[in-house]
Amino acid sequence: MGERRTMPVEGGLDHSIALLKEGYHFILNRRDRYDTNVFKTKLLAQDAICLSGKESATLFYDTNYFRRSDAAPKRLKKTLFGQGGVQGLDGEEHRHRKAMFMSLMTKDALEEISNITKKQWKQAAKNWESEKEIILYEEAKQVMTKVACAWTGVPLPERDLAKRAEQLADMFESAAAIGPKHWKGRKARASAEKWIEDLIENVRNEQLAVSPDRALYTFSWHKDLEGNLLDKKTVAVELLNLLRPIVAISVYVCLTGLAIHQFPNEVAKLESGKDKDHQWFIQEVRRFYPFFPFAAARVKKDFTWNGFSFEEGTLTLLDLYGTNHDPKIWENPYSFQPERFHEWKGSPFDFIPQGGGEFDLGHRCAGEWITLDIMKVSLKFLIHQIDYEVPKQDLSLSMVKMPSLPESKLVIKNIKCV
Ligand code: HEM
Repeated sequence: MGERRTMPVEGGLDHSIALLKEGYHFILNRRDRYDTNVFKTKLLAQDAICLSGKESATLFYDTNYFRRSDAAPKRLKKTLFGQGGVQGLDGEEHRHRKAMFMSLMTKDALEEISNITKKQWKQAAKNWESEKEIILYEEAKQVMTKVACAWTGVPLPERDLAKRAEQLADMFESAAAIGPKHWKGRKARASAEKWIEDLIENVRNEQLAVSPDRALYTFSWHKDLEGNLLDKKTVAVELLNLLRPIVAISVYVCLTGLAIHQFPNEVAKLESGKDKDHQWFIQEVRRFYPFFPFAAARVKKDFTWNGFSFEEGTLTLLDLYGTNHDPKIWENPYSFQPERFHEWKGSPFDFIPQGGGEFDLGHRCAGEWITLDIMKVSLKFLIHQIDYEVPKQDLSLSMVKMPSLPESKLVIKNIKCV
């Protein structure tokens, strides 16, 4: 047995306010201060262990040691996640539900979502030619709402587009908010769940015909481990676990647009049109810019790791942003260098913007391949299919807001399709 060590502990009553103030740098700041990848602090009036780095990520994604059932705070369930969804399941039940998601991610289905995205960008750009300027993030939300609905089989009349795009976005835009924005997120979730529940009912009583290869169909008829259909509310939560994050890819589209503007030398390397160069560029967008700050779990049973004691029930946060900027993993982590991905070995634990570990057995993001494909199509669209100018504007990124977007949400003007 290895030597017992005392985990560094941050003193003081509670550091939730510091978390709000320091945002994406909260864990990183303390990692540097205590020179450790493991420390204990107090958040939301309870002990919380913070982990960072590749070795810690490997531990965090070992489902023998961590559970998810009681990890997410109530306010996130009321807005971002919903209740009863795959994020809060463990063991066999999780594996079975996750398989429902992963069964959608076939090569053909991914190709289809890329094609839908290409078509939707092209259509949107035609309308932009007659506009003086557009806000890329706002446009992307509408484009992604169309993509998400078309791909999942959810009917979307044109007249409902703006309303649904706003509802789906409110759920992730409110994730870290307090006050009125948080309540807007709750209201959006309640309305969106009602919208989807009605569709599920119509699918089940055959009033709405939907192709059997669409998620609306497969999720509506999915059976749990006991062979029973899921209740309507749970199916709605899971369908929203597809629709909402597809719309959230708008954040990455906006950040891709920002990277194109900020790093013209890197854009020049994309001129040759090689797929791998585009792939490295979007990977670097996901590594470089902040999105989800951390993933949360609770210790499943008492154990010792590297000499440190972990007590059953302790809230544990894995620093996603900090691991993507860990100098032990990434040389010059604050410099935008897509070519670094040439050297990257593809470990599931060192590059974790959408979580780490395995897709099927653990909680790694079910939509990571979709995200990459949509980002790549969107990058190619912005670079090769339209010409535009970026007027002077406030492009500063907040390191405390979630999601973090350029302040102006990226205004572009004089758009021409090429
Ligand atoms: C917009 C870009 C996205 C980001 C930054 C993102 C990020 C994440 C993160 C950090 C997790 C949690 C990992 C963990 O708990 O350890 C997650 C889980 C998940 N994501 Fe994504 N995601 C994105 C897009 C998507 C898309 C497009 C889909 C579906 C089409 C999706 C579906 C899911 C699901 C279902 C889970 C829960 C997986 C589980 O608990 O087993 N995400 N995502």
